Amino acid sequence: MNMIEVITAKRDKLSLTDEQIEFFVEGVTNGTIPDYQISALLMAIVLNGMDEREMTTLTLEMAKSGTQMDLSYMDGIPVDKHSTGGVGDKITPILLPLIATFGVETVKLSGRGLGFTGGTVDKFESIEGFNVEVDSKDFPELVKKTGMVISGQTPDLAPADKILYSLRDVTATVDSIPLIASSIMSKKIAGGAKAIVLDVTCGSGAFMKDIKMAEDLAKAMIKIGNLAGRKTIAVITDMDQPLGRFCGNILEMQEVVNTVTGKGEEDVIEVVTELAFHLIKLAGKDAGMSDEVLRAEIRARLSDGSCFEKYTELIKSQGGKVLASGAPVYVDKPFSCMNVCSPDSGYVQSVRADLIGKASVILGAGRLRKTDAIDYGAGIGFYVKVGDRVERGDALCALYHGEKSDVSEDKLFDAMELILEAYQIGPEKPEKKSSILSVIS
Ligand code: URA
Repeated sequence: MNMIEVITAKRDKLSLTDEQIEFFVEGVTNGTIPDYQISALLMAIVLNGMDEREMTTLTLEMAKSGTQMDLSYMDGIPVDKHSTGGVGDKITPILLPLIATFGVETVKLSGRGLGFTGGTVDKFESIEGFNVEVDSKDFPELVKKTGMVISGQTPDLAPADKILYSLRDVTATVDSIPLIASSIMSKKIAGGAKAIVLDVTCGSGAFMKDIKMAEDLAKAMIKIGNLAGRKTIAVITDMDQPLGRFCGNILEMQEVVNTVTGKGEEDVIEVVTELAFHLIKLAGKDAGMSDEVLRAEIRARLSDGSCFEKYTELIKSQGGKVLASGAPVYVDKPFSCMNVCSPDSGYVQSVRADLIGKASVILGAGRLRKTDAIDYGAGIGFYVKVGDRVERGDALCALYHGEKSDVSEDKLFDAMELILEAYQIGPEKPEKKSSILSVIS
């Protein structure tokens, strides 16, 4: 077999055989296929797609390209969640301790932020002393202690995906359902999950801009999961405005503490409750509760102190510093340096999350290149969200940088311009929309 034959087959809209896909992934992993041939095949897949069998084979081959984690030491069915990314997405730090209060154990391998979406690893790193590079041999002990562990992805987890993803990033081949679905699912499968809950974000701040695209991606991942023997459920969530009240690392982690102490924003609570509900059920830890009772119990644990207690346990178990109150100590302090005010009176119609994400990166909260340093205290706080009334001159949001950093006037101005473009103000009060757009199983 040679690579030209494989590229030709996909160029001519044929289905690749399992052997051809195996040959491709092996060659990518071993470095025997040059980047130009890999890129040519990626582009042919973007243009001509893949069927369910091809996607599943690609996923399983990528999962097999490195270490496959064995989570058999865990109590119950190992579950995992994945979000396709968004702005202000602070779900994981709330969700892990929340489901741990029901006895659901998790090993969560997360990434850093790149571009306008934030990364869970960066958020945890904003806590003083918190170790995000846990050696996988320490996972069982940490899981036994607190029921959870959070760590950056190790280089040997689905290495073929790492190589493919970095090429996709520079060859305009990221936006492809087969490639996104196989990339995400390969890491979940290599991570050892037997059941998976996917948070497929949809809207201006997500990969998938409309519900049809989000559902197509969700269905592809569910098909792959099921063909690979993993029960998979997808929750399509709204990312047509940033999630919650803040974006930026420390700001979001402070919002996490608010949420696990019963003072969360409804959109965050809605998403976290829905994901927790499915994870608890898939893990078999619902203790026979009816769906209604389980949902109420999940919400109750966000305000009765049990989730906060677990959250503090998680922080301490990975070396994070906490105050006597149980709240974490952060590496910096967000400083509110400027408000952006509304140019018009009316109701907030939409807040383009992609532009808010870009403004937040300009302030220093995210990176454009993998090697960029970040200002953990930087970000944006939203005074008003979709449906709120504002008068001309009212503050829409506050811009922050960390006390240990600074941000130039030019950057503040650029961020302000993006924010003014992001906020659409109109005369009619928009209809209230749920953060859960649909659930596919
Ligand atoms: N996240 C991933 O892990 N892979 C993709 O291709 C897109 C989003």
